[in-house]
Formats: sequence, C-alpha cells, structure tokens
Amino acid sequence: MKIGIPKESLDGETRVATTPDVAKKLVTGGLTVLMEKGAGEGSHFPDSAYQEVGVELTDRTGAFACDIVTKVRKPTLDEAAMINEGAILIGYAETCDEDPVIAALHARNITFLAMERIPRISRAQSMDALSSQSNIAGYRAVIEAAQHFGRFVPLMMTSAGSAKPARVVILGAGVAGLQAIATARRLGGDVYAYDVRPETQEQIASLGAKVIELDIGEGGAGEGGYARELSDEGKAKQQALLADELAKAHIIVSTALIPCKPAPVLVTEDVVKRMREGSVIIDLAAATGGNCPLTEKDKVVNKHGVILVGHTNYPAMMPSDASAFYAKNVANLIEIMLDKSGDTIALKDLDEDEITQAAQLKPTA
Ligand code: NAI
Repeated sequence: MKIGIPKESLDGETRVATTPDVAKKLVTGGLTVLMEKGAGEGSHFPDSAYQEVGVELTDRTGAFACDIVTKVRKPTLDEAAMINEGAILIGYAETCDEDPVIAALHARNITFLAMERIPRISRAQSMDALSSQSNIAGYRAVIEAAQHFGRFVPLMMTSAGSAKPARVVILGAGVAGLQAIATARRLGGDVYAYDVRPETQEQIASLGAKVIELDIGEGGAGEGGYARELSDEGKAKQQALLADELAKAHIIVSTALIPCKPAPVLVTEDVVKRMREGSVIIDLAAATGGNCPLTEKDKVVNKHGVILVGHTNYPAMMPSDASAFYAKNVANLIEIMLDKSGDTIALKDLDEDEITQAAQLKPTA
C-alpha cells in the first residue's frame, strides 16, 4: 500500500504531513512511502532524512498517485485531479460545506478524511489535529503578543526602575486558550480568562489565572465540549459586561470559536478605543471573521493606537513541531484504517469505525 506525501503548495504553508520519524514507523509497518522531493524543507526536514528511513523520493505526480495521500491543507482543484480515482485523501477540509474541490473529489470517488472532523473522544485523542495545532497556536500567539508589546510582560525590578506585569486577558478557554493562559503565566503576566462554558472555570483557575465571571442570563455550553451560539440579547449583554475587563488589558488573546459559525464578537470597537495606546490584541479567530471586528485577516494593523494581529496560520510559524504533531495524528489515523492480519495490508471498511466514519466528508445528497 502506497502512502503519498506531496509538498504543500499554499502560500506560507511550511508544514508537511509526515516527518522522517513518523515515516520510519510507516515504512517499518510495511507501507511504501513516496514523498515529493523537498516536501519537508519548509519544516527543516531535508530529503536525506526521509531517504535514510526508507522513504522513496518522487515528483509531484508520483506523490499524488498513491493509495492514501496525506496532506495538511485542502488540495487545489489541480491537485485534486492528480489523486487516483477511488483513493483516500487525509488532510484539512477547511470548510463545513461542499465546495468545488470537495465536489471534484466526490465525483471521482475519492474518500476525504477531514482532520477537523475527527471526533473529540478519548480514543481519538492521538489523532486530534485540531487540538495539536491549536495548542501550538495558543503558545505562539502569546509569543507574538510579547513581540508586539512595547513593554515587559513580567514584573521587572531594576536599578533604573520597575515595571508592573502586563495584564493579559485570554478569551475562550478551549485548547488554544488554555495553552495561551499557560504560556502567558510562564512569561510572568497577570492573567485573566473568560469562557462562556462554565466548566472551563476550574481549568482556568488550575493554570493559575483569574476567572472573569459574567452573568449573561443564559448558558453557553453546547454539544461535544463546544459552545453554542448565544441569543442576540445574550451577545449584547456579554459584550457590555466584558467591556470594562477588556479595556484594562494590555494584551488580549482571543480564541472564541463555535464550529461552522462566524466568530463571536467579544472585543468591540468601543473597547479598542478605551484600551491604552500600545496594547496588543491577538485575534486567533481572524480566519472566521475575528473576535474583534477591527481585525484584518493575515495583517498587523494599528487601530486607535492598539496593535491588532490577524495571522491565520500560527502553526506554520513553528513548522517543525507542528508537522511532528500533525504527522503523528495522521499516522495514528492510518493505523486504525488498516487491516494487517493477512499476507497483504488491506483497507478496513471506514464506515465501521466511529472515528473514520465521522471524519469522512460524504457527498451532499
Ligand atoms: P476550542 O473549541 O477548543 O475553543 C474555543 C473556545 O471558545 C471554547 O472553549 C468555547 O467555549 C469558547 N467560546 C465560544 N464562544 C464564546 C463566547 N461567545 N464567549 C466566550 N468564549 C466562547 O477551539 P480551539 O481549537 O482552541 O481554537 C480556538 C480558535 O483558534 C479558533 O477560532 C480556531 O479556528 C483558531 N485557530 C487559529 C489558528 C491560527 O493560526 N490563527 C490556529 C489554530 C486555531
């Protein structure tokens, strides 16, 4: 069975779907791994490191013409056309709806296992790429904030005077948010956090941050550990109650997300106007509209004296670790897809396992 690793073609995407360490395990497990030359360069994994573990180097066509193609980003239409009819594609679908690429894959009977659809259940934790990559994003977001902030994050006492610790507010305490809290605490910030799901309060406190509690008059917990969308009244109340806390912040890292919905607005323009000059907002939700309406996707802008950072691919800024985690997620998924009991490796029925069943993008009727 052939596993293909094409080079990512999207601008700024430095990650690769399989690292030499993970490729070694796939090869040892009896799989043939074919990689497009140079696919690991962006993550600092040279071709030679793959060759040493038994990976065969090939061209672009060869990497796509495999039984299972592993990618990070959704293929382009041209790339989708290079995948064999009836093959399997593993990667991010980056959409909740059927789009032209997904339709083209379905038209050629290609099974697309979308990494963001892996259910967040215990048995699937080792395959949960949303979590592994959000963890990196949460960490990197705080580093980014520190870089743009013209002051110290920790308390500093020097002979030339002292600096108070920065007041850091984290909005949304899911995977990215909890890692952002931990990182901001390690940097010595005075950290506050808020999430609409009440169960996060204990997690926020266990990381040593102060919980921002708001009474918005309705519950925010949805299904599967995610939040639900608030009513218009709830949204307005939440914005109003958050405003004073946010206006005092030197740094805001916002990570609030509801799957397949536009990002909830938590930081209004009025709040930005009230923040001190030189404060920083890192809006992780920039790709889905932003938790602040002033955020500009993939740009760093200054609005009312506040620096707003709208990067949408923090994992690509840490490509070696991001690829290493992602590759393990993908390899663990491949492992449950294969039947190795016979003389040859066969593919299991993907509808029989709840994980591969849930991850499949089925054609819309
Ligand atoms: P998650 O689902 O684990 O966490 C999101 C949190 O937001 C949840 O705890 C949820 O309860 C909370 N939330 C939802 N609505 C809220 C509201 N109205 N008020 C307060 N909290 C609310 O998601 P994860 O994996 O931590 O990702 C967070 C965000 O980061 C997402 O927008 C995701 O797309 C983004 N992300 C961005 C990256 C980048 O490079 N910019 C990379 C990875 C993730």
